[in-house]
Amino acid sequence: MYKINENYLKLPGSYLFSTIAKKVSAYQQANPDARIIRLGIGDVTQPIAPAIIDAMHKAVDEMGKAESFHGYAPDLGYAFLRETIAKNDYIARGCDISADEIFVSDGAKSDSANIQEIFATDNKIAVCDPVYPVYVDSNVMAGRTGTYDAKTQVWSDVIYMPTVAENNFVPEFPKQNPDLIYICCPNNPTGTTLTKAQLQDWVDYANKIGAVILYDAAYEAYISEADVPHSIYECKGAKTCAIELRSFSKNAGFTGVRLGFAVVPKELKCGDVSLHSLWARRHGTKFNGAPYIVQRAGEAVYSEAGKAQLKEQVGYYMNNARVIKEGLRDAGYEVYGGVNAPYIWLKTPNEMTSWEFFDFLLERANVVGTPGSGFGPHGEGYFRLTAFGNYENTMEALERIRRNA
Ligand code: MLT
Repeated sequence: MYKINENYLKLPGSYLFSTIAKKVSAYQQANPDARIIRLGIGDVTQPIAPAIIDAMHKAVDEMGKAESFHGYAPDLGYAFLRETIAKNDYIARGCDISADEIFVSDGAKSDSANIQEIFATDNKIAVCDPVYPVYVDSNVMAGRTGTYDAKTQVWSDVIYMPTVAENNFVPEFPKQNPDLIYICCPNNPTGTTLTKAQLQDWVDYANKIGAVILYDAAYEAYISEADVPHSIYECKGAKTCAIELRSFSKNAGFTGVRLGFAVVPKELKCGDVSLHSLWARRHGTKFNGAPYIVQRAGEAVYSEAGKAQLKEQVGYYMNNARVIKEGLRDAGYEVYGGVNAPYIWLKTPNEMTSWEFFDFLLERANVVGTPGSGFGPHGEGYFRLTAFGNYENTMEALERIRRNA
């Protein structure tokens, strides 16, 4: 009889956002007249910008003619996109990253889940707590995390780095040395960031102890403060210790289009072995390339018109973030984030647990958010609201929350 990967059995319940979707759908069925406003999953609501739509139409037409048809994409991405990314996201910011260090993918979720595959299973991982649940869950599936204590919500072989109000959301170096350090900046869910100096400390630390930083910069486009780095490669020495993951979902509304990339510098080596070659081998074997039409859409993100339209879109969401943050603060809530990220992180009122507050908001205000405990043990007692809704719904949700506060 075959055996299954028993690591999957260790995972508690379903993936956070699937659990929420099920709960909301059950509530909607029981209350068909309720007009639910969803500020839970960080999914965009604004349409794809016109410059990108034009590029997609053009690419679709190319696919309809024999002379411009494209079959399998190069597994690491088309040169036109890799070069555009290198030039705009890195060289323009003074980061020495070349096109062949960029691996185009179908998004940062899959990259952040898959990247652990190129590391040994007995590597020790460290995660900010709270953080995007994919990092821990994917390591659970790979058998890197020991056992789960349902009461404390802690895995035995994971180093948790509390990222909480008490330390200004800046994690401290752990007591035990990790091998793989996950950092999400701007952080999902807290919406908080590290300054360049703070990130430089992490880079120095990783180089010193021989660890790799897996740096998720999916929310980079939302950074508004000057001292927050847009890429880890703005820090000296990052090319020997860091892999960066980026997404087109949040800056360009590609959650339903799917496009992202990983940067694996050639200088990043474990002894003689280059992680770049390992990731290239993995990518070549398990991925057949993002679609041509989508990569052309990605290229248009960096066109002059694309940049201007997306700046406006990011501004639209960040206006929601400001309004939510100020509105909640006026209503007496303790709130964080919302300045360099489209997430507002609030302390639940009256000592409610995160899930109690989730139920309270759903039932009393018909508003969906995300319970902080879903992002890690130190997320308990907190709650996340996204600024990715449309303005009118966001305003109404805020009004309903204030009425029930
Ligand atoms: C979130 O809500 O945390 C994100 O949208 C989930 C994701 O990006 O996969």
